[in-house]
Amino acid sequence: MRSLIDIPDLSTAEIDELIRTAMDIIDNPGKYSEKCRGKKLATLFFEPSTRTRLSFEAAMLELGGSCLGFSLAASSSASKGESVADTAKVISCYADIIAMRHPKEGAPYVASRNATIPVINAGDGGHAHPTQTLTDLLTIYREKGRLNDLTIGFCGDLKYGRTVHSLITALSRYTGIRVVLISPLELMLPSYVRKDIMRKNGVPYVGTESLEDVLPNLDVLYMTRIQGERFESQEEYERLKDSYVLTPEKLKNAKSDMCILHPLPRVNEISIKVDKDPRACYFKQVLNGKYIRMALILKLLEEAEKDPVLHEEDLSHLLENKLVCDNPRCITTVEQELDQLFEVSEAEAGTARCHYCENKMKL
Ligand code: CP
Repeated sequence: MRSLIDIPDLSTAEIDELIRTAMDIIDNPGKYSEKCRGKKLATLFFEPSTRTRLSFEAAMLELGGSCLGFSLAASSSASKGESVADTAKVISCYADIIAMRHPKEGAPYVASRNATIPVINAGDGGHAHPTQTLTDLLTIYREKGRLNDLTIGFCGDLKYGRTVHSLITALSRYTGIRVVLISPLELMLPSYVRKDIMRKNGVPYVGTESLEDVLPNLDVLYMTRIQGERFESQEEYERLKDSYVLTPEKLKNAKSDMCILHPLPRVNEISIKVDKDPRACYFKQVLNGKYIRMALILKLLEEAEKDPVLHEEDLSHLLENKLVCDNPRCITTVEQELDQLFEVSEAEAGTARCHYCENKMKL
């Protein structure tokens, strides 16, 4: 039985297959309208969401299935102290597949180790958001006709922006990808994404603080919100929150066929005056999210039918209990019975990464 916790769980061939299925769903919706009749999706949202939760639910309904779940941690027994592991075991008794969002990094992974049904990570803290990435890939594919030979600029909060981490991981698989990182110094991309993903895969990248300087070179501009809820200091958030605002004036210097993406919600990093520009693709991106989630639900349910067993993960290559993760957003900080598990980094000697949240620690 398969879950989807992060993009590396999918091969490039599987990502391409999901995009092909989504394209077929767009062209032939009637063919899919009964595919999940009798199946139930549980949406377990411990953190707010509009797009991800509702697109998952719309996806399951359009496949002929049904949905149950909660949209606030406070309305679940997590508020009484129930663990993620127990929640996953309980929901496995009621549903066929889970989509989970949680503020603690690694929580959906813990759920996947305890559920007897597939678990989809619908966003865990600042760590990963793989179905947003599949949405982004489908949008780039539909708008540009390809996923290779592209210069992609990521602008804004590259430190806490989990959609950026997941999309860079996915794009690093394709050829001819060039990445431009546009952020204040305080919100730079974490080193594990730069070193363990881009450098390891030979993806050329440059960093800058100026959007205007690099805009004319971009095929895709991926704007992001400064993630106020992840800052430890409100003062620092106030100082950085308006670092980048995309306006029609700035876009005069961009390519005429550049594609503007944003995972949304936006605050004020894209002026609403940009919405009328044909290059603004962020509302098309929202719709694509439903189609790719339909393709993913179908794939994971088909696989679960063929192989319903929860396979024990081989953890023998991991260091156990030698370190304690110091990321305050890691699931191990609140569920202390979890084993501390670390993977030694191949790219950076003397360091290891937490198996739950990928936080880098010195050995
Ligand atoms: N893009 C995204 O994850 O949106 P929501 O937070 O509304 O789900």
